[in-house]
Amino acid sequence: MFSLSRLLTFAGLAVTLAECAIVPPALQGVPATIDSPPDFNGSTTDTSSIVSTALQVNQKGGATGDAPPDEPASSTTVTAVDGDLVNATVPTVTASRRDVAADAHLSRRNNSNYDLVFWGTGTGPNDRDAAIEGTAYLTYTVVSNATYDIDDCSLSATALKDVVIFVNLYYELWNPLLDFVFSQQSNLKCAAYGDVHNATEKVMLYVNDASERLTRRKRQTLEQSTGWAAKSLVDPPTPPGYELVFGPTDGANNAPGYMGFAFIDQYDVAACAALCDTRGADPVGGACQYFNIWRALVDGVPTTYSCAMYYIVADASTAVNFGQGDLQVTESRGYSRKNVVVDGGFEGYTCGGLDVPLCFTQGYANWQGTSPVGGNFDASIFNYQPYAHTGNSVGLLGSAFGSDQLSGTIAPASPLATVAGQSYTLQFFHSSFYSGAQAEASASMSIIWNGVTIDTIHPGFSQWTGHQYTVTAQGNDLLQFTGGSAPAYVFIDDIALFPM
Ligand SMILES: *[C@@H]1O[C@H](CO)[C@@H](O)[C@H](O)[C@H]1NC(C)=O
Ligand SMILES: *[C@@H]1O[C@H](CO)[C@@H](O)[C@H](O)[C@H]1NC(C)=O
Ligand SMILES: *[C@@H]1O[C@H](CO)[C@@H](O)[C@H](O)[C@H]1NC(C)=O
Ligand SMILES: *[C@@H]1O[C@H](CO)[C@@H](O)[C@H](O)[C@H]1NC(C)=O
Ligand SMILES: *[C@@H]1O[C@H](CO)[C@@H](O)[C@H](O)[C@H]1NC(C)=O
Repeated sequence: MFSLSRLLTFAGLAVTLAECAIVPPALQGVPATIDSPPDFNGSTTDTSSIVSTALQVNQKGGATGDAPPDEPASSTTVTAVDGDLVNATVPTVTASRRDVAADAHLSRRNNSNYDLVFWGTGTGPNDRDAAIEGTAYLTYTVVSNATYDIDDCSLSATALKDVVIFVNLYYELWNPLLDFVFSQQSNLKCAAYGDVHNATEKVMLYVNDASERLTRRKRQTLEQSTGWAAKSLVDPPTPPGYELVFGPTDGANNAPGYMGFAFIDQYDVAACAALCDTRGADPVGGACQYFNIWRALVDGVPTTYSCAMYYIVADASTAVNFGQGDLQVTESRGYSRKNVVVDGGFEGYTCGGLDVPLCFTQGYANWQGTSPVGGNFDASIFNYQPYAHTGNSVGLLGSAFGSDQLSGTIAPASPLATVAGQSYTLQFFHSSFYSGAQAEASASMSIIWNGVTIDTIHPGFSQWTGHQYTVTAQGNDLLQFTGGSAPAYVFIDDIALFPM
């Protein structure tokens, strides 16, 4: 005699057989084929575009012009995007990110002591000197010309003491602004930089735009131009929402999932993070999840600061581009975006060393699948590479055995460690092609945030596709995906929640 459960199981199998003998995932069915699967690895780093742009960009500056001393330095700007030269501000994401930006350069001065990098010349009328024209110029100040002391170059007034790592100290003679106009009444300039320069970059002979007004007077000349680098350098702080993956090394990433690059005018890790945060999603790979910042030397001279963005997290193993031709990579660091969702790719679920091609479960430490009353494995996690978007594991909605047509729910096993009031980007990938065009036509899935359905999608027969939503956290948030109805299966993978 058949028990009720045996009867139900039989009924389920009958449904499955009626659907053109679709073998369910639990029995290691073969997914239906679909045209032109996307290349999830995408393109790799376009090094030649980065190198050719680095040879065009001009980010050099110095204490020229009519500006008075102690002007605040302008914030980091973008000088190139994907091979086109631009002059744009860095998008600011949040106030807290902006505060960090001021503190986040190449490395910073840790005390008031500097080491001499090069000596000055130019003490006689036929023996003049030149000032640095270099990258990451910030601002200048003047100090008493009764002495010649680098430690007088107090740049704290400009709130830059943590960013300045190099000072070019020199006398600027015959500048009427310094001599008569500016209240400081001194011609001994301290030009501050966020990168270290050396004597080969002394090119600036005449400094002031006002020189043309000095007709019939002597032209300004420079004397005793010395260079000083901060004695102690510290690593730049890691931007909020990111983790340092590697660096500093002399190798840039050459890695898949490349989204493009920007040059910035300072080695500003927070600015690069802001560019990654605001980079539009790649149609295949989704949001920026990783950036590689590095300093480009051309013929040994700092030239630009490159920020390359990726939707696949890279690491030191692919940081193997040390430069090309005259260009040399230095100070390369990689940072990955923190995902609030623990184990968003289900890769924490493995077959535990069992020698099996496929295993599945209704839940493990990081994720839990639940079935409605009377349902059987309506939400599950599979470890089987052919079903996954990336890696080996994936979530499945719809009865794994094809034994009922109920919709299951997959959710993180614990509430999300969010910050109340903070906005987040929710991203995930789903597919519904397993059972073929006819059986998948009705596939659907709802995305539920703290019990509220934020969207229900009806993808039909479809390839892996990325989705993004903006959600606001209340703290300890609950995220659920409900859907599938065997054999209209929905697979879900690579779920991420990034602070905005
Ligand atoms: C994607 O890249 C990974 C690692 O770089 C490689 O193992 C895999 O074969 C690549 N997949 C495709 C489809 O190119
Ligand atoms: C960039 O734009 C700003 C503001 O428009 C301008 O002051 C600055 O001179 C420009 N810089 C370059 C290098 O063109
Ligand atoms: C210099 O760095 C050390 C180590 O990071 C720190 O303990 C010290 O307070 C710093 N000194 C100053 C003046 O910032
Ligand atoms: C110091 O600077 C002031 C203002 O530029 C200038 O008038 C004066 O001659 C300078 N003194 C010396 C000793 O260079
Ligand atoms: C200064 O720059 C030149 C030219 O690239 C380089 O050869 C030299 O090693 C640099 N000096 C220092 C101290 O970095």
